[in-house]
Amino acid sequence: MSPPAGPRVYENEIMKVDLAFTPYELEKKELEGKSVVVIDALRATSTMIVAFENGCSAFIPVATVEEARDLVAQNPEFLLAGERRALSLEGFHLGNSPRDYRPNKVKGKVVVMTTTNGTRALVASQRGAQIFIGSFLNLNALNQRLLDTGRDVLIACAGEKDLFCLEDTVCGGAIVERLEKTGLPISKSDAASAAKVLYEQCEGDVYGALCNCEWGQYLEGLGLGKDVRICAQIDSSRLVPVYREGKIFLDR
Ligand code: MLT
Repeated sequence: MSPPAGPRVYENEIMKVDLAFTPYELEKKELEGKSVVVIDALRATSTMIVAFENGCSAFIPVATVEEARDLVAQNPEFLLAGERRALSLEGFHLGNSPRDYRPNKVKGKVVVMTTTNGTRALVASQRGAQIFIGSFLNLNALNQRLLDTGRDVLIACAGEKDLFCLEDTVCGGAIVERLEKTGLPISKSDAASAAKVLYEQCEGDVYGALCNCEWGQYLEGLGLGKDVRICAQIDSSRLVPVYREGKIFLDR
C-alpha cells in the first residue's frame, strides 16, 4: 500500500507507534500531541461503531452507573446504556451488545454509556491531541485516519480491570501491522512490537482468537457468542468515531 497524498506532520520524520496494555499504563504515558486509539474489542468500541452505522448521533461515556442515571434524568431524550460484567443494568434502555443498537432504537439518538473497562480507557485517554475509537470493525478506516492526521500514535487497550487482555492487544497489533504495511518509516515501542507479534499469530483466524480468549469464553458462557462474531467482522465499517470534549461522534 502506498502512503496517501497530502500534508503530514511526520513528512520528514519517523512516526512513533506505542501501545498501552491497560488504562493504568496509559496514565503513565505521554499522550500530549498524539493520536490515541481506544480499543475495547469485546465489546464496547465495536458496539459503538455498530451504533454509528445504525444512525446513532453520539455517545457520552461516563464512569459510574449513578452518573449515567443522573445525566439521563436531566436529559430524558438521551438513552441510558451500559453493562457490568457484560450484563444489562436495571432500568437501562440498552446493554452493551451490538445487537441492541438497531436503527429503530438508536437512529438520531444520544446514548449515555457506562461500561466496566471501555469507559475507563476513554477517561484515561483524554490528554491525547485526538482520540479515535478503534476495533476490528474499522481497521482500514482507522489506518487511513491515523495517516491523514500524521501524529505519533498511542494505542490504548481497555484491558480487563487494569490487567492485560488478549483481544485488545491483538487488535492493537493489527493497527500496528497496517501502519507498517504502508511503507512509511515507523518506530515501534516494545509494547507495539509485542502486540504485532501476537496479531501475526492469529491473523488467519481472528474470530477463533476472540472465541478462545477469557472474555470471549465468558461472553459465550452467557449466551452472547453472536456478539463475539460481530466484533470479529474485520473492516465491516468505514467509520472512525472521535472522542472530543466528553462526547463520541462522527466528525466527517
Ligand atoms: C467493558 O467495557 O468492560 C466491556 O465492553 C464489557 C462487555 O463485554 O460488555
